[in-house]
Amino acid sequence: MSRLAEIVAADLPTGQPLTGVEVGVLRGASASTLLRLRPDIERLYLVDDWSLEGLTLHDGATGEDVRRQAHERFLLPAYRERVRWVEMHSFVAGLMLQFVGGLDLCFDFCVIDGCHDKLAVKSDYTVWRGAASRLYFHDYGHPDFPGVKEGLEGVAVTVLGDYVVRVE
Ligand SMILES: C[S@@+](CC[C@H](N)C(=O)[O-])C[C@H]1O[C@@H](n2cnc3c(N)ncnc32)[C@H](O)[C@@H]1O
Repeated sequence: MSRLAEIVAADLPTGQPLTGVEVGVLRGASASTLLRLRPDIERLYLVDDWSLEGLTLHDGATGEDVRRQAHERFLLPAYRERVRWVEMHSFVAGLMLQFVGGLDLCFDFCVIDGCHDKLAVKSDYTVWRGAASRLYFHDYGHPDFPGVKEGLEGVAVTVLGDYVVRVE
């Protein structure tokens, strides 16, 4: 069970079908939990380049191992109709989903748990804030990931607990 997903699931609005994005999927722990907890999420776009930028995994898995595990998980019948696989850098994905081909998508939410460096967080904030009604950032204020708070300096956040914040 993913704590990030539990917190987001409890905070999302109710009463209408939702379309969202997760940036930073890894093996899909938070995305799959979120889909399980909120059946009203009709579609979840899974954005990750699986380069494991700035990340060392304790079990020695490579980006390719992790990508395969995520892919197998989301091909399961429980998920496959509800997800869209967006295998690309977060910034490019944000621009593409908003502007390319006139998709003109507006997401109900975007959960951001990608690269935790200051500049990457700034970049994620810049590109995704125009695309989604609300953003959730993971690891804000976490002592191991100072870049998340630094990247959101000057941005008004609502602290939800366990290092998860909402930006509207
Ligand atoms: C902390 S992990 C995500 C954990 C996941 N949310 C979970 O609950 O298990 C970070 C992920 O972000 C991805 N990532 C890092 N920088 C990225 C970028 N610039 N664009 C897309 N994905 C990125 C990495 O490949 C990695 O899978």
